[in-house]
Amino acid sequence: MINLGIIGFGRIGKVHAESLTKYVPNAVVKAIVDPFIDEKGIKHAKNMGISCVYKDYKEILNDPEINGVLVCSSTDTHSKISIEALKAGKHVFCEKPIDHDINRIKEVLDEVKKSKLKFQVGFNRRFDHNFRTIKNTVESGKIGDPHIIKITSRDPEAPPAEYVKVSGGIFLDMSIHDFDMIRYLSGSEVEEVYALGNVLVDPKIGEAGDVDTAIITLKLANGALGVIDNSRKAVYGYDQRAEVFGSKGSIAVSNDTNSTAIISTEEGIISEKPLYFFLERYMQSFADEIKEFVTSIENDKDVPVNALDGLNSVLIGLAATKSLKEGRPVKISEI
Ligand SMILES: NC(=O)c1ccc[n+]([C@@H]2O[C@H](COP(=O)([O-])OP(=O)(O)OC[C@H]3O[C@@H](n4cnc5c(N)ncnc54)[C@H](O)[C@@H]3O)[C@@H](O)[C@H]2O)c1
Repeated sequence: MINLGIIGFGRIGKVHAESLTKYVPNAVVKAIVDPFIDEKGIKHAKNMGISCVYKDYKEILNDPEINGVLVCSSTDTHSKISIEALKAGKHVFCEKPIDHDINRIKEVLDEVKKSKLKFQVGFNRRFDHNFRTIKNTVESGKIGDPHIIKITSRDPEAPPAEYVKVSGGIFLDMSIHDFDMIRYLSGSEVEEVYALGNVLVDPKIGEAGDVDTAIITLKLANGALGVIDNSRKAVYGYDQRAEVFGSKGSIAVSNDTNSTAIISTEEGIISEKPLYFFLERYMQSFADEIKEFVTSIENDKDVPVNALDGLNSVLIGLAATKSLKEGRPVKISEI
């Protein structure tokens, strides 16, 4: 049995606690930590059968029975807590992004190498049933060499401007999943990025120094080209689609819906909207990424998404940020 501690019991910490409790029989959440937890949060944890609730993550790091931690706290704490956890001998699952600062991510990488412990990054979309199908099809050679990778990734509603201010901006907070997906689906590294952006959804996002609508084009080392379109607000729901077009054909996946019902009347033909947001759309992938993390610890296997994947996605995010600011294509080697 693998004993885990969850550091940060907000939205994503609760998702992982639920996955572990429901779907991962070979792991136990021994403790959670959140300095700002309230009575409701404590009750939520207790209802899941988690009895140890702390306010300081050192309590978890000092517990010799705990094998690994899930770092689900705010982004600005990830690299510091990860390094301390590795030094304390704990395997780490770290939510994305590891950090906004390349040097701090490199310090995490060094510590991972030194410790020989598992370190997985939370790019859950790699475990999504739709994107996995694209990946497997590309790898099978059925569509030939990838030429164009297209990703549409639009949220159903914009976050508050206060969140935008600390999030690192749209490229490091939201598009980072798409940067990882481009690398995953193409099996290649991104070499150059050109980003266009605008404030079309909420002027407060502009006042906070960010954009809410973006198109990013990417050149890959294997010659393929990528295009990502992002919006912070799609009125019809969470729009998550992808296509890989190659020398022998293409594979595309559409949105998941509650049902495949199509209602046809004399007024027109109506089908379901996409599932509302990431908590509805990606639950299966959240559960599977955590299952694989536990399996990697148990069987001493390589993790499916490693610290280098965490670094490379942030490099692309920083290149996109620089590209938007300077109005020109930016090579990853410039970062
Ligand atoms: N993979 C995904 O799809 C996904 C989805 C959502 C969030 N995230 C990432 O997860 C992280 C958390 O996001 P969220 O939406 O759950 O935010 P949140 O604000 O809901 O939760 C963060 C929690 O961390 C706690 N916290 C802050 N400092 C802490 C510390 N020092 N020790 C322990 N707990 C601390 C806060 O009190 C809060 O409860 C972010 O880095 C975000 O980028 C990833």
